[in-house]
Amino acid sequence: MSTNDGFTLTDNKSGKKVDLPRMIGTVGPDLADIRTLYGSMDIFTYDPGFTSTGSCKSAITYIDGDQGILLHRGYPIEQLAEKSDFLETAYLILYGELPNPEQNKAFRKNVTYHSMLQDQMNYFYRGFRRDAHPMAVICGVVGAMAAFYHDSTNVNDPASREVASFRLIAKMPTIVAWAYKYSQGQPFIYPNNKMSYAENFLHMMFATPCEEYVPSPVLVKAMDRLLILHADHEQNASTSTVRLAGSSGANPFACIAAGIASLWGPAHGSANEAVLQQLREIGSVDRIPEIIARAKDKDDPFRLMGFGHRVYKNYDPRAKIMGQACKEVLKELGKEDEPLLKLAMELERIALSDDYFVSRKLFPNVDFYSGIILQAMGIPTSAFTCLFALARTVGWIAQWNEMHEDKDQKIGRPRQLYVGAPQRDYTPLDKR
Ligand code: ACO
Repeated sequence: MSTNDGFTLTDNKSGKKVDLPRMIGTVGPDLADIRTLYGSMDIFTYDPGFTSTGSCKSAITYIDGDQGILLHRGYPIEQLAEKSDFLETAYLILYGELPNPEQNKAFRKNVTYHSMLQDQMNYFYRGFRRDAHPMAVICGVVGAMAAFYHDSTNVNDPASREVASFRLIAKMPTIVAWAYKYSQGQPFIYPNNKMSYAENFLHMMFATPCEEYVPSPVLVKAMDRLLILHADHEQNASTSTVRLAGSSGANPFACIAAGIASLWGPAHGSANEAVLQQLREIGSVDRIPEIIARAKDKDDPFRLMGFGHRVYKNYDPRAKIMGQACKEVLKELGKEDEPLLKLAMELERIALSDDYFVSRKLFPNVDFYSGIILQAMGIPTSAFTCLFALARTVGWIAQWNEMHEDKDQKIGRPRQLYVGAPQRDYTPLDKR
């Protein structure tokens, strides 16, 4: 992975030179290994936002942002979305290979077995206000899992880490659905282990003790596909947060709660909520030019939500699948004329023919169409990002596990360029 055919960095001030090894992955750009830089040159590198920095080695997900390619363990997202289901994709992301029939059965059994919450957790929900944002609730509940499941917090034991993985993946649908039920003042609905992962989630969201909920197979499939599309995405903000939190040896539940907190930001996971709010505010096609003008105005902080991505400088492959799924769901629900879909498609068409978006390679991202599907399914806007967190838990836990198995792993501790006051003497209060 590391070769002699590397790089030489010269300090033009001191004339010192340092050789930096080249690191070569399976595909994608090479990296310069700068780990010895400070020791040999007494300098740090500066890269806020990690725009040119690889923070780890990973074998889970590969993105080619220029080509619009997303692979999980080598498999294209398009094939997984069409041929796999969420739990099989989860297994692939966690263990590196598609499961054989026995592994498939055992994994599903393990995840199913852990779907219920410790009964005491019912009371934990009741400490929240009913109008709390569900992201605040799930962040709190997931963090609190460390207080309920002490036996899966030993991060140095692979078996303990695996049980934590099962628990998190199995319980997230219950945690998210109960956050919704709590906000509605409705009784919690317990998981039904005879149902598929996606169907069980919809059941816990929409059934009541007196009313069964039987979703159409098209909706179950769409929910499952939506979960696959959000399962992992390399070293994004929330995944990096999980890794950084985990690098100190923090327990898995605390780390995933940290990931949920990071995902909540509108520049990341809650963009799907923001897209829908923005589409509602735009209201009609004739207001699009005004919105595009605002997005282009450098003096206006306004951004077109669901557009642009740090890595994709081409169409986000997940957005293409999501756009297609959106049409299928609306057809199934008899909502083909959904005004928000028409508005979104027209907004996309106009933006993609505008030089501002074309020259900056700003394309729709996964969040652009996901909100419309979720709204059509009856998921409230405030719960959109919770669904993202539910799916991404698989990626977070896989990345967290990979970090613990990595021999190069150290506590994450970036350095800085200090621009504050140099050392000075304390001035007593009466002299200030
Ligand atoms: N609307 C208008 N202009 C935009 C947008 C947008 N959505 N996104 C980027 N730009 C412009 C910037 O103003 C900048 O222009 P400049 O070069 O003239 O200064 C240029 O495009 C590059 O933008 P950066 O902010 O440097 O790109 P960065 O990689 O840091 O940001 C981000 C990526 C945060 C996703 C950004 O595109 C954005 O804010 N998009 C809207 C929010 C969104 O949809 N987030 C979801 C991301 S996907 C996910 O997390 C699942």
